[in-house]
Amino acid sequence: MPTSSGLFPRNFKKAYPLAVRGEGCWIIADDGRRFLDASGQAAVVSISHGVAEIGRAMAEQSSQIAFAHTSQFHTAPAEKLAKRLLAMAPPNFRHGGRVYFTSGGSEATETSIKLARQFHLESGRKDRYRVVSRRQSYHGSTLGAMSVSGNVARRAPYEPLLAEWGHIAPCFCYHCPFQKVFPQCEIACADDLDAFSLGNDSDSVSAFIFEPVVGATLGAAAPPEGYAARVAELCHKHSILLIADEVMSGMGRTGMPFAVQTWCVEPDMILVGKGVASGYAPLGAVLVSARIADAFAKGSGAFQHGFTYQAHPVSTAAGNAVHDYLESHKLFDRVTPAAKKLRDALSPLQSHPNVGDVRGLGLLLGVEFVKDKSTHEPFAKEENIAEKIRQACLEDNVLTYPTQGCVDGSRGDHILLAPPFTISPEECALIARALQSALAKVFPS
Ligand SMILES: Cc1ncc(COP(=O)(O)O)c(C=O)c1O
Repeated sequence: MPTSSGLFPRNFKKAYPLAVRGEGCWIIADDGRRFLDASGQAAVVSISHGVAEIGRAMAEQSSQIAFAHTSQFHTAPAEKLAKRLLAMAPPNFRHGGRVYFTSGGSEATETSIKLARQFHLESGRKDRYRVVSRRQSYHGSTLGAMSVSGNVARRAPYEPLLAEWGHIAPCFCYHCPFQKVFPQCEIACADDLDAFSLGNDSDSVSAFIFEPVVGATLGAAAPPEGYAARVAELCHKHSILLIADEVMSGMGRTGMPFAVQTWCVEPDMILVGKGVASGYAPLGAVLVSARIADAFAKGSGAFQHGFTYQAHPVSTAAGNAVHDYLESHKLFDRVTPAAKKLRDALSPLQSHPNVGDVRGLGLLLGVEFVKDKSTHEPFAKEENIAEKIRQACLEDNVLTYPTQGCVDGSRGDHILLAPPFTISPEECALIARALQSALAKVFPS
């Protein structure tokens, strides 16, 4: 970090190269160094870096009308993108669903918490306000989003500021919180929602929020067949709204437009961010199902909420241009075959004594490193394994997304791999080679 920097960095003790250009799956720094973006930064970039037509579409929109406040106007790019997102969504969104655009994922989470609350007010259930979530989850960095998050490390410094509305067990087969094995477990982790709802002042619960595939916190932990359908059924049983946080897993990353479609689940709201504009503009959204939108339309009419930059014309123009690109290059169709190539390239790693699990769905993959493969015992936190793997991959110019804490919030090391959907077989091989060499460096025999 140059001492002349005026930026408040993520970490004052870390040096950050200056990114000056992007090309495909590569980011180029000011010193000419080229980095292979194996994590799509933070599972953001789907269509590739450096697609010039996205910038042109944004410039064109900006030259027409760059800003119009949503209290006075709607704009064509926002209307268009809303219709496109609803058309991709499960059936309960398609006729009468609505989209609330934000500037990112955390704002989408905040918006959904308030939408759930006001939906119940509109429906005459004034006691419902708590949003139940899961331990070992992440829903964003603003205070409402952190309240529902179950990411121990990210919550810790701010505990006094956070509401506690209740967290149930995560769905994490590799480190099952009930020490059970699927399918004999009968998805006990889903039934934790039932157990919670039968006690705990459940009449005050407004919604249950979950990441269909838990991204950064658990390293791409996908649920077993039946989990998502079971929580949907339980939400229905207890008159709780179901919010699917697809900020990371949505917009094609798992091979379906939204991960919940893998299991034919119809949530009441779907949150998107990251891939919705593939990093070309700050954009997020809450997809609101027809039933919820209808309660507002037939009730007070006005949602007591708002951001100056919601539904921003230039950001939504970027979203449309990204969508055009996804469609014209059929990029959703590339996810499953590209994921297979990446998994095949990674498969030799699986025999390494310290690679515990390679998991995920589509191009949202996690690699977990363990001390003892037979017991899944993690390394001590102080060993900083995930960060060491990241640094070793960086020596080969490959960017990964490391996290600690998947086991208990403190121990457990994994990296996330979530490259652009355009990743080639040769680039998959480069990622695997960098990881092989990182394993050799971090775990010398
Ligand atoms: C599942 C999930 N929800 C919400 C967020 C917050 O999104 P943002 O960082 O855009 O505010 C993230 C970010 O990583 C996420 O992965």
